[in-house]
Amino acid sequence: MRKKLVAGNWKMNLSFREALDLTAKLRSEFHPSDKVDVAIAPSFPYLYPIVKMLEDNEINVLAQNMHWADFGAYTGEVSAPMLRSVGVNSVILGHSERRLYFHETPEILQKKVNRAILEDFHVIFCIGEKWEDRKAGKHIEVIQNQIAGSLFKLELQDWNLITLAYEPVWAIGTGQTASPEQAQEMHSFIRRLIKNKYGSETANQVRILYGGSVKPGNAAELFAQPDIDGGLIGGASLKANDFLAIIQAAKEAG
Ligand code: PGA
Repeated sequence: MRKKLVAGNWKMNLSFREALDLTAKLRSEFHPSDKVDVAIAPSFPYLYPIVKMLEDNEINVLAQNMHWADFGAYTGEVSAPMLRSVGVNSVILGHSERRLYFHETPEILQKKVNRAILEDFHVIFCIGEKWEDRKAGKHIEVIQNQIAGSLFKLELQDWNLITLAYEPVWAIGTGQTASPEQAQEMHSFIRRLIKNKYGSETANQVRILYGGSVKPGNAAELFAQPDIDGGLIGGASLKANDFLAIIQAAKEAG
């Protein structure tokens, strides 16, 4: 049985003070559970203080991105060894905003994933189709290419470090969620794809999160789907009560 995971992607939001206040509230109200893991992804400047605040807590701290090199002349970038040195060993890669605004291609993402694995980092790898793709009936093909293009050179054992997040681009920050049936259909396709390439054991253990306008009001029905193992939460993770309600929904579904 896969344990659910609810991860908050704070994106480029919150002042330092607001970030600390939100963390403090989550720290006091989230109690470790055998039903759900919880993680938050603050901006780079806030990572270290938040790691410190959560030292005696089970909430995991993720980076929102990282570079593929370990060190070097890459102005403005942050690497896995740097993240590790401030206590972070998990990262979100391939978010559609990174693909869209920062031109991260499957090849670039493959390099980033490879570095992450080399450094023993946990990766939440995002995939998702645009509305045009879905309208044209190409959503399955797009997801297949995104997964195969960045992850299919991994060794079997590397999959212990991979979590997938299916986030249809048309559902991110739009208030328009995929229906539980649409999400389940894609999640089960993704699991089959992994099964065909890496076998049933890997396919059955990999967590596949759903992301895109998850809110307290729709989380329960999404998390009730057999292949949805939790959520990657943007907007609703910025409000402690909403995020905690989504965690609660995952606990109840778990
Ligand atoms: P959203 O973002 O919940 O605000 O739609 C999800 C994400 O981008 O991870």
